[in-house]
Amino acid sequence: MPAFIQITDTHIVEKGRLVCDASDTNAALRKAILSINNRLPALGQIDCAIVTGDLTDNGTLEEYAHFSEIMADLDLPWIAIPGNHDHRETMRTAFAQQDWMPSSGPIQWLRDFGPFAVLGLDTLLEGAHHGELSAPAFAFLDEQLIKLAGKPLIVATHHPWMHCGITEMDADNLRNGAKLMERLEHYSGPTRMISGHVHRAVTGQIGSVLCQISPSTCHSVHRDQRKEAIHSLALEPGAVTLFTWARGAQSGLISDILSLEKIDHPVPF
Ligand SMILES: [Fe+2]
Ligand SMILES: [Fe+2]
Repeated sequence: MPAFIQITDTHIVEKGRLVCDASDTNAALRKAILSINNRLPALGQIDCAIVTGDLTDNGTLEEYAHFSEIMADLDLPWIAIPGNHDHRETMRTAFAQQDWMPSSGPIQWLRDFGPFAVLGLDTLLEGAHHGELSAPAFAFLDEQLIKLAGKPLIVATHHPWMHCGITEMDADNLRNGAKLMERLEHYSGPTRMISGHVHRAVTGQIGSVLCQISPSTCHSVHRDQRKEAIHSLALEPGAVTLFTWARGAQSGLISDILSLEKIDHPVPF
């Protein structure tokens, strides 16, 4: 069964540093990789990991080098799009050898899994926390939508279009996402949008498009929906999301959020 694992918002920093003096994001990614590797024999074939942005916290070459060093232990190939904490050209330089990295323009790609395809789109607007799709990103999207001709499609972005109920995060969403949704609404096949950025597991339906946000490997954004809420992170357990194509009468893409906490031996029942 074609499958991939979404890893998001790893926020890697230089060795020995913590994000906000509180979150050991480097240790969290190491723990995530150990957990994924341990689970792989039980999961069957997984084609790759898709990293949906905020690979690093500050977008420096040192941080990308550290990200690569940690990811080298993952027993899967990986592919990535940038988030608002990344720096496009530094990321391009750091991963120039990866076959999915374009030599210029937005960092975007199409990966065909057979029964479905994933289109990774670059929503990074340099210097801003919110996201935007550029004219070249829309041109790429339009070209791929014609080629895919109704094949079940997942659009992967860092910034979600869907609001999640946390005021500051909703202000920093994909601001021109309506133009993306309009295209997906008119696409002839089933569509889903998967994102990161919110560091929480959030699911919603917007028109005919299923929207999903994956939890992060490290901290979460604290859910405080009051207007006066202070924007905060919470040291909740990290997770990744497994996407698998189910065959047969229930054919379609299923997802499962995998905890990264160490689990004892499963108990038969
Ligand atoms: Fe993030
Ligand atoms: Fe983000």
